[in-house]
Amino acid sequence: WLRYAPLPENLRPSTTKLPSLIVALNTTETSNTPVSVAAKELQAGIQGILGTQLEIATEATNTSIVVGTIAAYSDKYRELNASLLEKDGYWLVKKGAKVRILGQNERGALYGAFEYLSRLARGDFSDVDIVSNPDAPIRWTNEWDNLDGSIERGYAGPSIFFRNGGIVKDLTRVAQYARLLASLGLNGIVVNNVNAKPEMLTEINIDGLGRIADTIRPYGLQLGISLNFASPQLLGGLSTFDPLDSQVVAWWTEKTNKLYKRVPDLAGYLIKASSEGQPGPLTYNRTLADGANLFAKAVEPHGGIVMFRAFVYNHHADWNDWKFDRANAAVEFFKHLDGQFHDNVVVQIKYGPIDFQVREPASPLFANIPNTNMAIELQITQEYLGHQDHLVYIPPLWKEILDFDMRVDSKPSLVRDIVAGRRYKKKLGGYAGVVNVGTNTTWMGSHLALSNLYAYGRLAWNPTQDSKALLEDWTKLTFGHDRSVLDTITKISMESWPAYENYTGNLGIQTLTDILYTHFGPNPASQDGNGWGQWTRADGETIGMDRTVKNGTGNAGQYPPELAAKYENIETTPEELLLWFHHVNYTTRLSTGKTVIQHFYDAHYAGAATAQTFVTEWESLRGKIDTERFEHMLFRLKFQAGHSLVWRDAVNGFYRNLSGIPDELGRVWNH
Ligand code: GCU
Repeated sequence: WLRYAPLPENLRPSTTKLPSLIVALNTTETSNTPVSVAAKELQAGIQGILGTQLEIATEATNTSIVVGTIAAYSDKYRELNASLLEKDGYWLVKKGAKVRILGQNERGALYGAFEYLSRLARGDFSDVDIVSNPDAPIRWTNEWDNLDGSIERGYAGPSIFFRNGGIVKDLTRVAQYARLLASLGLNGIVVNNVNAKPEMLTEINIDGLGRIADTIRPYGLQLGISLNFASPQLLGGLSTFDPLDSQVVAWWTEKTNKLYKRVPDLAGYLIKASSEGQPGPLTYNRTLADGANLFAKAVEPHGGIVMFRAFVYNHHADWNDWKFDRANAAVEFFKHLDGQFHDNVVVQIKYGPIDFQVREPASPLFANIPNTNMAIELQITQEYLGHQDHLVYIPPLWKEILDFDMRVDSKPSLVRDIVAGRRYKKKLGGYAGVVNVGTNTTWMGSHLALSNLYAYGRLAWNPTQDSKALLEDWTKLTFGHDRSVLDTITKISMESWPAYENYTGNLGIQTLTDILYTHFGPNPASQDGNGWGQWTRADGETIGMDRTVKNGTGNAGQYPPELAAKYENIETTPEELLLWFHHVNYTTRLSTGKTVIQHFYDAHYAGAATAQTFVTEWESLRGKIDTERFEHMLFRLKFQAGHSLVWRDAVNGFYRNLSGIPDELGRVWNH
């Protein structure tokens, strides 16, 4: 979306309205700061889009673009707008050929420059006068990259950051990635896997991290790192990693000071502790708050923050215990700790209570810790959503969660207002998106998968935006202005999440993918009978998790009263979450009059049928998109079409066998 392709003739304005100069405030010729990056970006962008070479000058005129911080700008209207700007925000004014791009800070100026260029690239030359502020202070990506160069749940080749136990020498790709993220208003990257290795903190790697931070800083991005909780023992040679042990505290303080010496603007730490076999405070009977606060104290003098993940659960759960529920874990682990976390701790919560499934209700934790900073964790990498081999445009799913009203104290309590800090009046909060880009030239392994990254960044800036409108912006910037290209990509992308839900797992049963090994392809049998807790409780006659208070796991009761009542009652539970909250007979009838099992059969056909159309839709674009990208996507969409049939038949065959109930339309599935 930053290719700055030449704008077609019919979309160009008359030349008299174009600026003739770029003036960068706060810079010298040699500086490498967000404002100087912004000036160069403006120069390259205008050259690409309009074919005009603008000089970077020092004296502003009525036909120049001025970019810089608002503090460095002398203009009588400055005061008025300065007061409207919040951290990282910008003021963009365009009146004819006079353009002013003024940030609350340097980063804001860069964001404003990208916004201005995006407008030009989309052929929008209208005059504007806007103040744009980010909705939340934390707008980060998480990368699950390992020091050996592999990436957990990454589908685009090896790491751009690490290789052979250290940080790569050539960080060119890292700079390019920083540019992509900055263009969306993102401001932090946690570069290593949440399942972190202690070796991240060796002297040589700290220096390497410093090189990464130096590379991304000009783009206004700060570095964050994931820590291994047992590092004092595994790396430091101490006999313990107890968070309350004074030697452990001293070890972390010293390490932190060393890190900040090399990276003075380190954003902070991300911690996965006492989860999925990772070490943590529970090993020593300390609370998760004790664990988080250990790091909070270490980074506090440096202005850093700690993102502490709420993804803590027992993965050796007792399948025979009808009342046990992994979906209850976050509230059980965190609710009683509300108010005990330091001010610079943010609890990072996956959008749903389980794990990035094709559909989940919003995590009840958002409604249970009002005295704690919160961030939402979203997954851009398509772990459960077909890796990047299936087209799934995810923002409509995210929007359902972000726009969801938790009704805390029977008052409007949208998830997006909670994570922005607005609902509970908290200073910190925001967004963490698991991206997992790799060295593949497409970044994510598929060209169309990039719309997810684009929309994630834009939503983190302003979550009220419409997912379809964001997609259209992205498509124009990425593929040009041909109407049929725009319409087709919009159509198949908007249909993709509902289709994927239909041919994988519907009615809130979860994705039904293989959960034991690959997280790819159908394996409904893998959900049950093990300790992972992603259960469906399907047997010969019934299916679904009973999460009621009355008879089940009590999960419905973790929601505020209005929602709890709604989910407790099968009649008022939204049908798309029926099997998430209720255990029913296959023969239970839905509002359509269909039985649950027949709905399964039909939905899997409908989803797979939609996936077949993606191929024909895409083929209609032959010659309208460059061959490389056309063929690349055609290959993937054909794969998806075929794989959706595999999904359809595997899932339908599985439930047909289990239930013994034949399809009303007489379709059969042999495996
Ligand atoms: C999922 C994923 C793991 C990851 C974990 C997490 O379970 O499969 O690879 O480590 O989430 O988010 O910590």
